[in-house]
Amino acid sequence: VGSYETIHVERKGRTALLTLNRPEALNALNLQVMNEVVAATAELDRDPDVGCIVITGSPRAFAAGADIKEMRPRSYMDMYLSDWFAAWDRLGDLRTPTVAAVSGYALGGGCELAMLCDILLAADTAVFGQPEIKLGVIPGIGGSQRLTRAVGKAKAMEMCLTGRTIDAVEAEWAGLVSRVVPADELLAEALAVAETVAGMSLPVAMMAKEAVSRAFETTLAEGVRFERRLFHAVFATEDQKEGMAAFVDKRPPGFTHS
Ligand code: CAA
Repeated sequence: VGSYETIHVERKGRTALLTLNRPEALNALNLQVMNEVVAATAELDRDPDVGCIVITGSPRAFAAGADIKEMRPRSYMDMYLSDWFAAWDRLGDLRTPTVAAVSGYALGGGCELAMLCDILLAADTAVFGQPEIKLGVIPGIGGSQRLTRAVGKAKAMEMCLTGRTIDAVEAEWAGLVSRVVPADELLAEALAVAETVAGMSLPVAMMAKEAVSRAFETTLAEGVRFERRLFHAVFATEDQKEGMAAFVDKRPPGFTHS
């Protein structure tokens, strides 16, 4: 994996761990972070030996938002012509499953980055929010849309209009995160989840991800139809034969990701 300054990327078997590393700014997401995260994840996505990507921050902050100091002097034309933040959308286009392991602050762009991931695990120290309104701006990396789909209008409106943050317990109760774990177990738990996912058939995991993701984009009837077509398609994989044979033989499957 290429060398980066604001992130650290390491491989652990079939899992890749991407750690945001701008401690002096609580991992605020400036353009360099965005470009490095997008480049690194695109590279990992192309690697058939990577079955899951974990994105994490520090114990104190997953990310405290987009970089306010970098945005402060910009004009409308700067933002429009550079299509500010648009590159973050590429994270949503990754085919490899992703896990966000959130400890501490996940505010503004930090909350949005977590919501761009497929599985969201929170430490009991996690704090989620879209406090942009307090700065005189609104979310810009999909927060108003993804938060609303995750937690519903009631909480999303209150969070986006008042900037109120929620803790890990409220986030789990509201459906924003799949699970809350003690802070000192977060990384191990996220890596265990990633290893489980990475141990599945990669093409089938990609299809499962694609099917669930489609629920955010389309009607129920079209989504079910899309799922059914992918379900039929898995019967073209070696891994379907292996998975079902292993069940019948009462042994663990050895998927070949083909
Ligand atoms: N951008 C730039 N720098 C930031 C930052 C951000 N989003 N968040 C924190 N920092 C910097 C601080 O300026 C500070 O730097 P200095 O030491 O040079 O002053 C350093 O990180 C440590 O932060 P604090 O001293 O503020 O730490 P704290 O523990 O007192 O407070 C905090 C922590 C409550 C998270 C506070 O830092 C904070 O409120 N941060 C901003 C949160 C926010 O508004 N996020 C939304 C940003 S806008 C956005 O994200 C738009 C979008 O939709 C993408």
